[in-house]
Amino acid sequence: MKFTAPAGPNPIDQGKVIGHPHDRIDGRAKVTGTAAYAYERNSLAPNAAYGVILGSAIATGTITRIDTRRAEASPGVLGVVTYKNAGKLKKSKSHAARLLAGPNVEHFDQTVALVVAETFEQARDAAKLVEVAYAPTKGRYDLAAEKDNAVTPKAGPFGPPDTKVGDFDSAFAGSPVQIDSTYTTPAHSHMMMEPPASIAAWHGDQLLIWTSNQMIAWAVRDTSEILGIRHEKIHISSPFIGGGFGAKLWVRSDAILAALGARLVKRPVKVALCRSQVPNNTTHRPATIQRIRIGAGSDGKILAIAHDSWSGNLNSFREERAGAQTRLLYAGANRQVTHKLAALDLPEGNAMRAPGEAVGHLSLEVAMDELAEKLNLDPVQLRILNDIQYDPEKGPARPFSSRKLVECLREGAQKFGWSKRNAKPAQIRDGQWLIGLGMASALRNNPTQPSAARVKIDKKGHITVETDMTDIGTGSYTVLAQTAAEMMGVPLHHVTVKLAESHYPVSCGSGGQFGGNSSTSGVYAACTLLRAKLAQQAGWDPETTTFEDGKMAFSAQSKSLAEAAGPKGMSAEDKIDFADTQKKWAQASFGAHFVEVAVHRVSGETRIRRVLGVFAAGRILNPKTARSQLLGAMAMGIGAALMEELAVDKRFGYFVNHDLAEYHVPVHADIPHTEVVMLEELDDKSSPMKAKGVGELGICGIGAAVANAIYNATGIRLRDYPFTPDKLLDHLPPV
Ligand code: MOS
Repeated sequence: MKFTAPAGPNPIDQGKVIGHPHDRIDGRAKVTGTAAYAYERNSLAPNAAYGVILGSAIATGTITRIDTRRAEASPGVLGVVTYKNAGKLKKSKSHAARLLAGPNVEHFDQTVALVVAETFEQARDAAKLVEVAYAPTKGRYDLAAEKDNAVTPKAGPFGPPDTKVGDFDSAFAGSPVQIDSTYTTPAHSHMMMEPPASIAAWHGDQLLIWTSNQMIAWAVRDTSEILGIRHEKIHISSPFIGGGFGAKLWVRSDAILAALGARLVKRPVKVALCRSQVPNNTTHRPATIQRIRIGAGSDGKILAIAHDSWSGNLNSFREERAGAQTRLLYAGANRQVTHKLAALDLPEGNAMRAPGEAVGHLSLEVAMDELAEKLNLDPVQLRILNDIQYDPEKGPARPFSSRKLVECLREGAQKFGWSKRNAKPAQIRDGQWLIGLGMASALRNNPTQPSAARVKIDKKGHITVETDMTDIGTGSYTVLAQTAAEMMGVPLHHVTVKLAESHYPVSCGSGGQFGGNSSTSGVYAACTLLRAKLAQQAGWDPETTTFEDGKMAFSAQSKSLAEAAGPKGMSAEDKIDFADTQKKWAQASFGAHFVEVAVHRVSGETRIRRVLGVFAAGRILNPKTARSQLLGAMAMGIGAALMEELAVDKRFGYFVNHDLAEYHVPVHADIPHTEVVMLEELDDKSSPMKAKGVGELGICGIGAAVANAIYNATGIRLRDYPFTPDKLLDHLPPV
């Protein structure tokens, strides 16, 4: 199905199943421990041996000697994989570095060996007996030091890295009110609950990998490229995933080394990375330096806006697109967004939780707060003044598919009691605590991706959906079931959803907040075809045949779906293709965050007191799962503001804090009751579901709202994230 024009009325509009807060249909399996995650799929490979990965002890250089004899002689050891016996391996285009080092080492903790043994403990002990000698070379580990060597990267999937409209420099110079601020964000680690894990088995020349992966078709493609075996020989399965956040968009060392280990020992092999391997062996969100300049008239209208961002990456792999939201969020005739990329020798930087926008808002939305103060304007008002209903770079020819930013701002301000805020900082006290309010806008691009599905009906009228879509804890199983139930006119429990097998039709996968909207659209397309087939078989007009209450009806005739499906049942497969709709319309989901903080006047500790997020993201397919995603994302954004930071050892080139005791993420005690409001909206230009992405929207902006609230509480303007107490301590108002 080609989606080329705004969606007209369709069966999804009935809203009998879609739009209702259904519990996750996989919830019971998850809470009863019967949902088998990658490392636990023992029934599929009962005789699997255990593999443990040994990582490089240096960041850059070469392996001069690797001796596996002591490890191989250790009790229970079945074999050791190193570059010497692994055969020829390629680096896939999806990776910054090879997943197995040797003789060159590209980053700290890059895999140098996999030790396979009868038990996990035997493998772990033997891994310590692998002797590796290195000749280290000098590396580049400090973004600030490499900033001036950064260059403009090549255009990637998100278009050119730089965009310029009008004449920023002269418009900025001529602006009556100006701000020019530079912000830094550190590297972040995904720290998903389930570290990467895989079981691999060979059946002849067929390779089976049971893994934890967000993008099944990419996993097949990249495994094929790395191992040099054909796509058809590779089977990937990933039905349950304990969080991904972007780290599982691509196969990592666990999958590839499990395959190599299984080939070596001629037995299935299971490999899980341990927590401490997550920051350095896998990927992370790169650190950024961001300079924002905004010039405004004294009326508050933006005349010039520039967002210049620097990030670094291993082998100059790819940049962090921190300027993404600045291209679309506010009006202003003269604009500039640039990205520069420095070569660093830290581990691979890659997509994490709203790549680009998540850290881009941390600077832009604080800059807007600084501008509001200079203008003596309310920050909500400043944003409303600079709203724009079309792409500010392309002009009115490219309107937004839908944009309710102003509605989010107004609703949020009213609900939160924003008018009670004292614009003058450091005025409100509650005992030892300084109290402040802050807010920020949220914009997350709404990409859409082709997505295919197969929908089957059996002789009992039961519906089964098959697609290689994944559920990374987001609710895919549930919203896909809701979509099929709505389309076929059956209750939710008459639908079974089967996901994440590489032999199912290729979906969009889970990433970039396109998963929910695009994959349900794929099921919509397949159901539309199945409806047409059922109608045609009955000799009825597919356009006017209706599907309701387990029956299909046409003029005065009606029959049960079971009857219509016949003894053999029926099946339909189709794919949604979004044609040029992304070109025609600027697409994003929007929101507004409001935060109240308390900063301890002696210790500098920040506590979050109240949080409200108001969002507009098209049709909300399931308010319960959507709310959960927004809540989670908001907690992550609070983490980015207050605690998340990978500390770089700039001498040896690695992330030092590689466990959850030292890499801090918010826990329940850090997050107060959080209110989420989702505005009514239908976006008929985004998809036939009239939905938009909601998964990554919540993280955008909230960290800046925290920063702005800290400023309001204390009068301290922090620009180097995260805002740990030490950064406030020396600047707090006198006690
Ligand atoms: Mo997302 S960072 O595209 O998984």
